[in-house]
Amino acid sequence: MNVTFFNAKPYDQQFFEEANREYGHALEFLEVPLNAHTAVLARGEAVCMFVNDVANAEVLRLLAAAGVRVLALRCAGFNNVDLKTAAKLGLTVVRVPAYSPYAVAEHTLALILTLNRKTHRAYNRVREGNFALNGLMGFDLHGRTVGLIGLGKIGLVTAGILKGFGCRVLGYDSNPGPEAEALGVELIALDTLYAQSDIISLHCPLTPQTFHLINEESIGKMKDGVMLINTSRGAIIDTKAVVQGLKGEKIKYLGLDVYEEEGDLFFEDLSGKVIQDDVFMRLLSFNNVLITGHQAFLTTDALRNIAHVTLRNISDFEQQRELTNQLLP
Ligand code: NAI
Repeated sequence: MNVTFFNAKPYDQQFFEEANREYGHALEFLEVPLNAHTAVLARGEAVCMFVNDVANAEVLRLLAAAGVRVLALRCAGFNNVDLKTAAKLGLTVVRVPAYSPYAVAEHTLALILTLNRKTHRAYNRVREGNFALNGLMGFDLHGRTVGLIGLGKIGLVTAGILKGFGCRVLGYDSNPGPEAEALGVELIALDTLYAQSDIISLHCPLTPQTFHLINEESIGKMKDGVMLINTSRGAIIDTKAVVQGLKGEKIKYLGLDVYEEEGDLFFEDLSGKVIQDDVFMRLLSFNNVLITGHQAFLTTDALRNIAHVTLRNISDFEQQRELTNQLLP
């Protein structure tokens, strides 16, 4: 099948071309993001898109008119796709529901450990011959209480790692499975999780229910000096409320891999440009805020799995096999 990739980076091309030896599709890689201006560039019957590509009603209509029949998301989250319109237009949507929960869970720990032990600051100091320890004080993770919101694939792996560190792990999930308790996670009400956790990490999807779940009110329920981590989706956090929390020192550490307005920033080299987003720039001004640009998924293992599952989804569609990874409205 002809597959047009939008927002393709060199690492996408590398892993997809390698995996495609097994599937034999005709791949075309475009650097431009998918939106209403670029949708007309789609050639063939399959389009492959990523987290910050836009597949709203307008884009979907343009894709359908261009002859696209299947939209293959090379990611798990699908909050950026209008599934109802896709169904009305007869467009099939498939995704990669799981490719490596370890990649994201381990990045969550990277953020926690870096914020706590300040290895990013130590690295710079030592390279400049500054061996002073002032300002580098951390705390033992052992014995601390960590609250996880969302105990799906990534939340559960994160819980297992934290248990290995000797943490007390609290969890809240709107639809919890049996695995969490088997791992020793204490399932509790959300308000209790806010009140008792030293570290809170978000692992739920972005839905109308989780939009701005972390807001002025929920921050008010948290412990003074809490560490907040988000590797899930940016808009689960009301960033302006978090900035206030940082200014008032309610939030003592913030680790983000996602940001609610990241579509205008992440995945691009903007180092020569003036960044216009004042809220984002305010976040960068705090020395207790660590931001990575949506890289939690970026491991060789995850990229290999993403490429295989995406191409298999497209082959399944082409050969009219059962679509195990189809998204329905
Ligand atoms: P999953 O579907 O396995 O688990 C999500 C869990 O959240 C489920 O157990 C569900 O019951 C729970 N949940 C849903 N609504 C909730 C609510 N209102 N309150 C509490 N819990 C709720 O998903 P998985 O694979 O663990 O991924 C979680 C999220 O991580 C994804 O939705 C995606 O947004 C994000 N992600 C981020 C990546 C990155 O590179 N930063 C990469 C992959 C995923």
